[in-house]
Amino acid sequence: MSLRFPDGFLWGCATAAYQIEGAPDADGKGPSIWDRYAHTPGMMVNNDTGDVACDHYHRFRDDIALMKRLGMQAYRFSLSWARILPNGTGDVNPAGLAFYSDLIDELLANEIEPIATLFHWDLPAALDDRGGWLNRDSADWFADYARVVFQAFDGRVKKWATINEPWVVSDGGYLNGTIAPGHRNRYEAPLASHNLMRAHGAAVKVYREIGRNEIGLVVNIEPKYPASPSNADVAAARRAAAYMNEQYLDPALLGTYPVELREVFNGAWPTHDPADFDLIRQPVDFIGINYYTRAVVRHADDAFLQAAVVHQSQSTYTEMNWEVFAQGLTDTLLWVRQRYGDIPIYITENGAAFYDPPAAHDGRVRDPLRADYLQKHLAAVHDAIQQGVNIKGYMVWSFMDNLEWSLGYGKRFGIVHVNFDTLERTPKDSALYYAHVIASHGEILSKPL
Ligand code: BGC
Repeated sequence: MSLRFPDGFLWGCATAAYQIEGAPDADGKGPSIWDRYAHTPGMMVNNDTGDVACDHYHRFRDDIALMKRLGMQAYRFSLSWARILPNGTGDVNPAGLAFYSDLIDELLANEIEPIATLFHWDLPAALDDRGGWLNRDSADWFADYARVVFQAFDGRVKKWATINEPWVVSDGGYLNGTIAPGHRNRYEAPLASHNLMRAHGAAVKVYREIGRNEIGLVVNIEPKYPASPSNADVAAARRAAAYMNEQYLDPALLGTYPVELREVFNGAWPTHDPADFDLIRQPVDFIGINYYTRAVVRHADDAFLQAAVVHQSQSTYTEMNWEVFAQGLTDTLLWVRQRYGDIPIYITENGAAFYDPPAAHDGRVRDPLRADYLQKHLAAVHDAIQQGVNIKGYMVWSFMDNLEWSLGYGKRFGIVHVNFDTLERTPKDSALYYAHVIASHGEILSKPL
């Protein structure tokens, strides 16, 4: 069967500011919660920080030249809020805007479409001092920041994402303390989630006033499959899906929270002002889906959600200990359409961390597992398109190896290898493969690797 993708399908790659830029205080940038968190002893594996990262701040022109050589048609990146508004609100830092203006111009000069994410986890530290996402004012702070950015770049940027993965911000940042700001509080998590969603809605509202192109929300979806047909396991999978997959898309697109969440959070579930849902449920132009893995779930009395993940011994797992399960991506895309309607979808992230051997004498970095992951997942996207889902593009995570948040530089997701001593970039075999996929509109996917 031919795996040719529809004309106009957008092929690209993705990154995020704190993971690649470095230059944490260059040209008037203010600190973000990640600058703080990474410098707090004990928070980061290997004491890694984003101080240098891939030094993309100084090397973006070379990086874009490499994207061009690989045939990328789009590049999804995020803006550092604290570069643009060092205190989170108030005075704009012209040098911060200038950096992104140059980046966008360089992309356009290379015929690569910029896709900009407003918030990929690096909240200005000054706003965390005011309560961060627990403060209801955060929706206004975000809307004001969004206005500055839209005024500067809309038109040159035609696709915007408001928030990247609110679930990770809430679960990792406020419930489990695995990412900045590192809180562990069951009462805080749903409050943070709710304010993130209000912020999303407030930014979309501003966009409808002054923007002319497309805006959407980016969520990570991890489909939950019951480990057995028993009522207990099915209910556990339902709770897990409500918590991770529906907690954000439901309010954004349906104007409610899934009922299971009240049971999950119990006394920690807040009372919501019904008017908030009018703000949250703004019409969006697309949904960005980040997909990495699935979870097979069983009932477990002692676990949060009373649900535990069941290891699949027949499957391959990545360095993140995530199961490789491409069918889950097709299932996810069909589920989004079935639950939320025929809304345009971009795959805004998909990829895998595997151990990469050092470059061989011939200079090649052989990463067959990553190429295999891409082949299977792109075929899964094609399958969903065949079944009528309106999927407009695919961004591989990630363009290059980068700081995997608290896990540091050891987890490599890049299709381009980065030597973190010399900062030299080397396209891995998976990058060359992806370049062929793009050039052949997917035709090559049907051939063995
Ligand atoms: C995030 C990325 C991250 C990737 C791999 C997503 O949750 O948006 O920033 O590096 O997954 O963990």
